[in-house]
Amino acid sequence: MAGDAELSRIGISLPKHLLDKFDEIITMRGYSSRSEGIRDAIRSYITHYQWMSDVKGERQGVITMTYDHDQRGLLQNILDIQHEYMTTIQATVHSHVTHDRCLEVILLRGEGSELKSIAERLMSQKGVESVKLTTIPLQD
Ligand code: NI
Repeated sequence: MAGDAELSRIGISLPKHLLDKFDEIITMRGYSSRSEGIRDAIRSYITHYQWMSDVKGERQGVITMTYDHDQRGLLQNILDIQHEYMTTIQATVHSHVTHDRCLEVILLRGEGSELKSIAERLMSQKGVESVKLTTIPLQD
């Protein structure tokens, strides 16, 4: 662990199902300890955030999101956010995955920083499970 000589200890609280899922994945991936898995997860969170910060200029993008259909008020919040950015959002495809889960694919075109803030706003809604933004620059 080059450069990580000084270790800090932290305590975190997690919903049980989240921890179970995490343990399942780190076991499958062969991590020797939970700490090692968490360190790796934090590193990729930081990398992802830095990558997101680099999304600049005119872009075409896709947001893929999943959410809990039964979360009170969530559908309306998602619609409200999409209407707010109606000139940036070109189309939305909704698929009902199960009785209580939805998958939505949103096609966007606009300033990278705006695409990023739409993704972040969607991500912060209670009941949203995952949001992934992929973009390409309009000019190469
Ligand atoms: Ni649905």
